[in-house]
Amino acid sequence: MTRFILFYFIALCFIDKLSYSVMSYHHITEPEYYQSPINIIHEEALKHIYPPVEINNLGSEEKFLIINTGHTYKLKGLSREATLTGGSLFNKYIFNNLHFHWGKTDSEGSEHRIDYEKFPLEAHFLWKHFIDYNVPPEFLKESKSRYLKKLCVMYKKQQLSAKHKKQLFSTKHKEQLHTNITSDVGIVNFIKEELDDLHDWPVTVRKDGNVERETIVRTLKLKTFNAIYKYLKWIQVNEAESSNPCDSASNEEQYDFNISEFTSQPTTIFAVIAVFFKIDDNAPRYDALSFANLVTEANSNFTTVQDLLSQILTLVNFNQYYTYSGSTTTPPFPTSVTWIVLRQPIFISHEQLDRLRLLLGPEGIIRENWREVQPIAGRFVYFHGEEA
Ligand SMILES: *[C@@H]1O[C@H](CO)[C@@H](O)[C@H](O)[C@H]1NC(C)=O
Ligand SMILES: *[C@@H]1O[C@H](CO)[C@@H](O)[C@H](O)[C@H]1NC(C)=O
Ligand SMILES: *[C@@H]1O[C@H](CO)[C@@H](O)[C@H](O)[C@H]1NC(C)=O
Repeated sequence: MTRFILFYFIALCFIDKLSYSVMSYHHITEPEYYQSPINIIHEEALKHIYPPVEINNLGSEEKFLIINTGHTYKLKGLSREATLTGGSLFNKYIFNNLHFHWGKTDSEGSEHRIDYEKFPLEAHFLWKHFIDYNVPPEFLKESKSRYLKKLCVMYKKQQLSAKHKKQLFSTKHKEQLHTNITSDVGIVNFIKEELDDLHDWPVTVRKDGNVERETIVRTLKLKTFNAIYKYLKWIQVNEAESSNPCDSASNEEQYDFNISEFTSQPTTIFAVIAVFFKIDDNAPRYDALSFANLVTEANSNFTTVQDLLSQILTLVNFNQYYTYSGSTTTPPFPTSVTWIVLRQPIFISHEQLDRLRLLLGPEGIIRENWREVQPIAGRFVYFHGEEA
């Protein structure tokens, strides 16, 4: 498990840097670890009864930015009043946005699958929570000084050759890089010790249904890794003139990496409620989708004040859902999402779905905007509810 987490960090960190430039989108084969969406096998989901999901402060005064982002149709909440609690969540989340994933035909479009079944449309209600604890500054400080020392040892032993470094920091050949770095025992151990020995965060996935804790732990670890990575990168850039970084390593302060840049920023975690749609031409017409024809061009947008969420949220069934810890499905794919995937689809007419299929992205019509399913990689998916 430790090894997996480590690989995942390395990989994620590269995604963070690279994925915007490698936008083959849902065909990206990203690191196998803790990503979303997934194919949910109902039989394998662990039954767990959670408290009721509660959504509050939905109302007619909610202000929305309706926007075609070029990748999706999004309703961004500007009032930030609606809240989500309960279910597999211990914290209170604030509504951020509702957006959609669709495909070019009715046989695809959803990101999650249930028992391999795809749906023509999947709505994501995304909520945010700022966690009130952070990467411990002492941890980063200690990591920093240990990094420097290790770097010197490695230089002396010539373990971290120029070639290695080039591989570590190159922004090209991303996929090869994943393989190369993760198979590089020297570098793996180098980072492994930092993350695992120094601070004993629980990394083992427990079977207790607390998926939100998994999300928090992975989010903090990712943040830590990014900080350390940034530091490594800083060293790499700043030692360019010096062939032996250990000369300057003796004067640690010379590396003026600013730890508080990382520790002072709030850490954000997300909860996403995923709702599947099936086609039925007698389906209700959704106000939330009715503006799609007004934002055909990429980046076109407007604001409106009305209740656009209740209509869908009162139709969905919160009595049966799957929940697990994963990632966003758009770059940079941070593993900071507690997913609540509703089992029962609701319905949409062809007419409304086809409106989405007319939206334009930077390269013409957004035909599809779903990401391929990712490996479960040892995670548990929980099922809340009575069997049908
Ligand atoms: C990865 O390793 C292979 C084999 O050693 C090498 O040919 C390739 O150039 C490396 N890729 C990158 C991006 O460094
Ligand atoms: C370090 O970053 C923090 C937060 O961004 C900032 O307030 C502080 O002035 C920075 N310190 C230095 C020495 O740059
Ligand atoms: C909204 O549209 C305006 C042009 O009407 C544009 O300048 C602005 O960047 C857009 N906002 C967003 C968030 O894309």
